Amino acid sequence: MTTPSLIRTLPGRSYTDPGLFRREQELIFERLWICAVRTTDLPRPGAFRTVRVGRESVLITRDRAGRLRAFLNVCRHRGAQLCTEESGTVRRSLQCPYHAWTYDLDGRLIAAPNLQRMPDLDRTERGLVTVPLREWLGYAWVCLADDPPSFEDTVVGAAAERLGDAAALDRYRTETLALGRRIDYDVRANWKLIVENFMECYHCATIHPELTDVLPEFADGYAAQSYVGHGAAFADEAEGFTVDGSAGFGRLPGIEDSQDRRYYAVTIRPQVFLNLVPDHVIVHRMFPLAPDRTRVACDWLYLPEVVASGADTAKSVELFHRVNAQDFAACERTQPAMDSRAYRDGGVLVPSEHHIGSFHAWVTDRLSGDGGV
Ligand code: FES
Ligand SMILES: [Fe+2]
Repeated sequence: MTTPSLIRTLPGRSYTDPGLFRREQELIFERLWICAVRTTDLPRPGAFRTVRVGRESVLITRDRAGRLRAFLNVCRHRGAQLCTEESGTVRRSLQCPYHAWTYDLDGRLIAAPNLQRMPDLDRTERGLVTVPLREWLGYAWVCLADDPPSFEDTVVGAAAERLGDAAALDRYRTETLALGRRIDYDVRANWKLIVENFMECYHCATIHPELTDVLPEFADGYAAQSYVGHGAAFADEAEGFTVDGSAGFGRLPGIEDSQDRRYYAVTIRPQVFLNLVPDHVIVHRMFPLAPDRTRVACDWLYLPEVVASGADTAKSVELFHRVNAQDFAACERTQPAMDSRAYRDGGVLVPSEHHIGSFHAWVTDRLSGDGGV
């Protein structure tokens, strides 16, 4: 039997229903490894960041030994949020602004008013609730699950599977790169629309003129993600991955000839997109805030010497910033229709989008609550 040309998407309510969104938060974002912060965002002991993971606020600190730690951002006394700022630095400890319970950067309860009058208070037991944390690609990844899935299988392995080669990503040495630019996007669309859009390129010819100039094969509608291990070739006349095809920066030292002048895209479910080009790496992290609202943090990473030299990265950044703006506008244009009766049963995926069907199947499977990854 031949595969039909058109296969169904998820129904419209998958993108608007608050109850479904809550289930996604619980069964996807609070069960899987989430890429939370760039480790260099916490440059020294005492630095902290708060980040939204599922329905929780997670507090990430660098302790006195220089180790990154993650905790639920909730005081163990009466539940006040410990840190309300998105980032900051403390000298030695974290003090709750409500009744001044004080925690070490490693989460231990170290002081509280009248503590000597509570000899039975077990400070270990009343420390901050720890969240498992892993470092990879220069990011701190956290997982709220009681029993986190294998990081190697669900994160590292997922990227390797997409690239068809476990070593392909390592060669970019993303953990050694420096942050050249970060742009935060407040996107008025469901997180799944953003994932689906990233996975396909049927829209590239219509909305991405600058990108298709650099990657002409994208104009045919087939995304790099339609195939395992495929990198889209640069146009002959493009000197670099820049908004006008002008030269970028030197090739990253580890990558092979076969990876040169190519663009690779990887989706690590549920919230990371990696974009690999010879002279930089672009990382998207998504944080769903509501059924129709998602924060997307996008980092442009370059060799540390490129950033330190003060080199002008504007043309390099501008290419994908435009792509982001074009993509997010398309997602925002789609979101209102998710509630329309015209979309009650969803829409359709054309053949070049069929691989998105596997993402839909994955979401549906996760929501069935069987705990699989
Ligand atoms: S709620 Fe934090 S010290 Fe009371
Ligand atoms: Fe796009």
